[in-house]
Amino acid sequence: MLLLDAAERPLKPDLIDAAFRADVLDGLASRPRAIPARWLYDERGSRLFEDITRLPEYYPTRTERAILQAHAPAIAVCVGGVRTVVEFGSGSSVKTPTLLSAIKPAAYVPVDISGEFLRTSAAKLATAFPLMAIHPVEGDFTRPVVLPAAAAAGRRLGFFAGSTIGNLAIGAAVDLLRAFGRTLGEDGMLLIGIDRIKDVGLLVAAYDDAQGVTAEFNLNLLRRINRELGGTAPVDAFRHVARWNEAETRIEMHLEARRDVRFEIAGHMFSMAEGETIHTENSHKYGPRDARLLLRAGGWSPLAEWTDEDGLFALYLAKTAPPAAAP
Ligand code: TRP
Repeated sequence: MLLLDAAERPLKPDLIDAAFRADVLDGLASRPRAIPARWLYDERGSRLFEDITRLPEYYPTRTERAILQAHAPAIAVCVGGVRTVVEFGSGSSVKTPTLLSAIKPAAYVPVDISGEFLRTSAAKLATAFPLMAIHPVEGDFTRPVVLPAAAAAGRRLGFFAGSTIGNLAIGAAVDLLRAFGRTLGEDGMLLIGIDRIKDVGLLVAAYDDAQGVTAEFNLNLLRRINRELGGTAPVDAFRHVARWNEAETRIEMHLEARRDVRFEIAGHMFSMAEGETIHTENSHKYGPRDARLLLRAGGWSPLAEWTDEDGLFALYLAKTAPPAAAP
């Protein structure tokens, strides 16, 4: 049962253009240069990202899926009765059927910024789960989401897969977890995938694959800038770099100038010396204790965790923490 009436309106294209231009111009003018990662996901970027999730080096997607498949019955037992599953950043929702089959909620609310992904995956799920009400919400889940009235009653389980939490700086990750808490309510629960700290070689390979798909995903940002903002950035003068930042325990993606370059974007001139970079994405990794601390800082009490046998990736189940009573 697919109910589309509740879908929010997306941003108008001219507003997106203005925000994109401002982020790119500001980002290239600041030091270190950095452009917000959300601009990586135009249509081609989203497709390249789907390809990344299938790469041999990219362990997170298949590991998280395997953990979910192996432990879905145990997860359902721990969760108990929930009426509504709210999936944040549902994307193409490949892991969702496993969870929904085990939990059997009355309603499912996928929340995503990309309306197209949302509608195709919601339609597929409607066929597979004919008795479940599906209420897609097209919008930004970093702010508390107003659930459609029909999905608002009863206990809610949030699902946040793919270690997307790792793409945020710690402070923003804590804010997001708190926003989830407001969306999911006082007796809400959260099932969240969090990628672990591991061997640096494995980590770097996952973000710099042999086929160069991740490189193309990163370089596509320059192509988008050139196309949408009338830019002249010489794409072949840049290289994709994935590096481990030990102090911040994160993988960073950069676009590095292979030689001195000068280019124009929306009427503004920029020059970069050989070796200078534009920072385009972070993927923070969390040890077991770090992950639990992050959840607590975000207003959640960890209840259970499941991992693969190599400890590459972990799924956490948490419940809303009561307001802290100081001893
Ligand atoms: N959250 C995932 C990760 O950090 C997916 C992701 C986001 C990603 N941006 C990426 C994967 C850039 C590869 C490259 O791993």
